[in-house]
Amino acid sequence: VTQAALDQLAGFAASFTGFSREAIPEPALRKAAEQLELQCGSEDEVLLRAQRHDREVIHALCQAVSVGETFFFRQPEHFRFIASTMVPQWTAERRSEITAWSAGCATGEETYSLAACLLDLLPADVTISVLGTDLVERNLTAAREGNYGAWSRRASGPMLHPVFADTTAGRSQVLPRLQKLVRFAPHNLLEPPPGMFDLVFCRNVLVYFAPSAAAIVMKHLMRSLGPGGALFFGSMDVTQKHPEQLEAVRPAELQIFRRPVKKEVPKIAPQPVYRPLPQQRTGLDPIPLHTEALLFIERGNKHRAQEILESLPFDYLPGLLERAMQYVRAGEKTAAATLMRAVLRRTDQLQAEEPVTGPETLPAKFYRDSALTYLRGAQGK
Ligand SMILES: C[S@@+](CC[C@H](N)C(=O)[O-])C[C@H]1O[C@@H](n2cnc3c(N)ncnc32)[C@H](O)[C@@H]1O
Repeated sequence: VTQAALDQLAGFAASFTGFSREAIPEPALRKAAEQLELQCGSEDEVLLRAQRHDREVIHALCQAVSVGETFFFRQPEHFRFIASTMVPQWTAERRSEITAWSAGCATGEETYSLAACLLDLLPADVTISVLGTDLVERNLTAAREGNYGAWSRRASGPMLHPVFADTTAGRSQVLPRLQKLVRFAPHNLLEPPPGMFDLVFCRNVLVYFAPSAAAIVMKHLMRSLGPGGALFFGSMDVTQKHPEQLEAVRPAELQIFRRPVKKEVPKIAPQPVYRPLPQQRTGLDPIPLHTEALLFIERGNKHRAQEILESLPFDYLPGLLERAMQYVRAGEKTAAATLMRAVLRRTDQLQAEEPVTGPETLPAKFYRDSALTYLRGAQGK
């Protein structure tokens, strides 16, 4: 593989993952590139497929640059904070359901640690669900198995809550009652969040990111946090000032941020049009909201339009393209390309002629072609 091809592939890997170029390990990338060259037949074919966002090529590049280092109860002070602050608050509020998201979960140690902590500390009648997401499919497969060696249970993470059922030949199997609470799914942090949560862990991920990509992720994480919710970062993750909508927990070294509980006052309509994600999940019709956003765009109120568009469910394809177009118009190329890639991925699951319902019913290929045209243009093709 030539150096020029390797440089181009590093560029693709950076744009798919959000990593800064310096964080991309060249030996791992070279190994993946050589493997891909064998699979695809030539270097040019690898580059062409990368340009077309071929799933296998993207995945191989992401897997090559991903650092999956993790262990149980890493940064135990975060789990102690949940015990000392979050649990008493939820108990006082008589919460019947608690949701958590381990974003960038690698092989699942963090996800199971969260589930074990919540299961141990919350009353039995509280419903707990913990979602673990990662970019790399191989990590998710290991996470679902829930079978870990001694290295995952190293002493720097004390076993604060029960996790394992039994240990055979040095390997331990996660308790079935914990496995029932967790779910693992692929997700790229550059895409909109998969819901709204009381706890969001995104630790030791952003440390590898370019500042512009980290800013996008920060926006998404903020939106994924329910009122009173808490967002946890690793000690090296947050280099910029944290978003003003969030309050930093003291001491600042904890790198925990909370969304204040106070209700947000709607700026225009007395009845808020912007609805938080839990209501969207109960089947809210996105089309009237989308139409309303279009009206705001026409009237030049971009801010309000953006607010409404961001409240649409992320599996609503016309909304996704609309948001991407807003970024195109604002000249925010990284954000635009990220959402265009999300559009492309959604259309992967649809037939070209399949009608997609929006303010106007259009075939799936309209969305696919729009995204491809933008992405090709963005790459100067
Ligand atoms: C160092 S591990 C951290 C695991 C765990 N959060 C912890 O702190 O122990 C970083 C993980 O982030 C994942 N990752 C990197 N970029 C990502 C992205 N853009 N979207 C989702 N996950 C990503 C990697 O695949 C890797 O598994």
